[in-house]
Amino acid sequence: MSNIDDAITSTAFVIFGITGDLAKRKLIPALYELIISGQLISPLFIIGFARRDWSDDTLRDLIKNSITEFSPNLPLESQELNRLLEKARYVRSTFDDLTGYQKLGACLQDLGVQNLLFYLATPPENYLEVIRNIGTSGLNQGCGGWTRIVVEKPYGRDLESANELEKEIHQVFTEKQVYRIDHYLGKETVQNILVFRFANGIFEPLWNHKYVDHVQITVSETQGIGTRAGYYESAGVIRDVFQNHLLQLLTLTAMESPVTFTADAVRDEKVKVLHALRPLTGAEAIANTYRAQYVSGMVDGKRVVGYKDEPGVRSDSITETYMAARVFVDNWRWAGVPFYVRSGKRLAARVTEIAIQFKQAPLSLFNRHDMAGDAPNILVLNIQPDEGITLTFGAKKPGFQNQVLPVMMKFNYAESFGSEPPEAYVRLLQDCLVGDATLFTRSDEVRAQWAFTDGILNAWKSQNLRNLPVYEAGTWGPPGADEFIGRDGHCWRNPTDEITPQ
Ligand code: BG6
Repeated sequence: MSNIDDAITSTAFVIFGITGDLAKRKLIPALYELIISGQLISPLFIIGFARRDWSDDTLRDLIKNSITEFSPNLPLESQELNRLLEKARYVRSTFDDLTGYQKLGACLQDLGVQNLLFYLATPPENYLEVIRNIGTSGLNQGCGGWTRIVVEKPYGRDLESANELEKEIHQVFTEKQVYRIDHYLGKETVQNILVFRFANGIFEPLWNHKYVDHVQITVSETQGIGTRAGYYESAGVIRDVFQNHLLQLLTLTAMESPVTFTADAVRDEKVKVLHALRPLTGAEAIANTYRAQYVSGMVDGKRVVGYKDEPGVRSDSITETYMAARVFVDNWRWAGVPFYVRSGKRLAARVTEIAIQFKQAPLSLFNRHDMAGDAPNILVLNIQPDEGITLTFGAKKPGFQNQVLPVMMKFNYAESFGSEPPEAYVRLLQDCLVGDATLFTRSDEVRAQWAFTDGILNAWKSQNLRNLPVYEAGTWGPPGADEFIGRDGHCWRNPTDEITPQ
């Protein structure tokens, strides 16, 4: 941290790979929102660094276009925007050319900034050279204030490459300077998991193996892979969503209360969960995971192509676009409670949710028309899109018979707070600018995520499959996935099912 008063310093937000989609869609709109809403204490300047033949003016056009397109509610005429545009600079360079970094240094000096935030928004294959060159050119020494680096996912593609990246980054920055993004942590509803659990007294006593039967975590998407075949083909859903977003949701659901709500205390508890995961390797990994690929089907009333027909995908690809896993957290709290996690592209609906399925009442009292078995207690944390929390329980249907039917108590963000939750990047960028790393993944955390994931990846590789099971786009996945969870006598929740008592 700097000892210079933030109010009299200015900050350079240096985006490597500014010509890409991330800067346009997420970073620039989020920065402008922070500026215009007065959330930033010190003035901030955007500096772009990329290969394309752009000028300062092209960058200014990008800033304006990105705000118009992705933050249409923010004003396009403001003093703040004028200042942002006036100070915006573009450094044209390839990522391996040291002179580019020297030009960047001169530009920083010229602007007279003190704080430096480097943002890696390049393709991941450029991470190592950018980090190395920041170090070689001495830019990591900063400009008198604080210096930080934000690294986008994917953070490596297995434990070995993540370790390599770690080694390189720690040659140039200390761990306290490194902010690894998992944008799920920036989602308001994800942050609310801890508030819900630890700011209320009534749920935590039930939050363990004595009362919880199992947990289902779903990240389902209707979209396909778009134009990202190059990346997705070598990633699959396991690297794209399981290793990061799904495991993060699992750690927040399973972790113990931190001693304080500070970055290291929270992350210490998350890491303990990752270390308590029962390793999935070899035959165990095969038996406890299920993967599949989509074929053509109907999504939102339109026919979409199958994965193998997506542009850029090999016709013999065995990249999974769906995966499910049965995971155990081997500690006192969760012993014996299965966590079923699943994620897929081109599924029936876009839903992210965590469903805590509580155990049945110990005795059926209303046995003649008993529906307790069909209407168990489920607490659902709806992360998106219908942000909120629901609790399902059995109630007596009015009438002469003792008939139990499921009903629902519902909390909805928009209804309760009168507004939609903010964009994840707004919160994350604010946090890295003020130096709060709670919502960023720590070095040991990301390595533990990879160590667990590697077991599955290696087992899958050794299977040498030529084809994967398939599912029709627009459905909830293949029948095999239902059989997978069905072996334990459970079924997947269909998150779009509304409860309608009859
Ligand atoms: C990204 C993945 O990290 O998360 C994408 O690379 C995925 O493939 C996205 O679509 C999902 O994020 P969100 O916020 O839309 O749920």
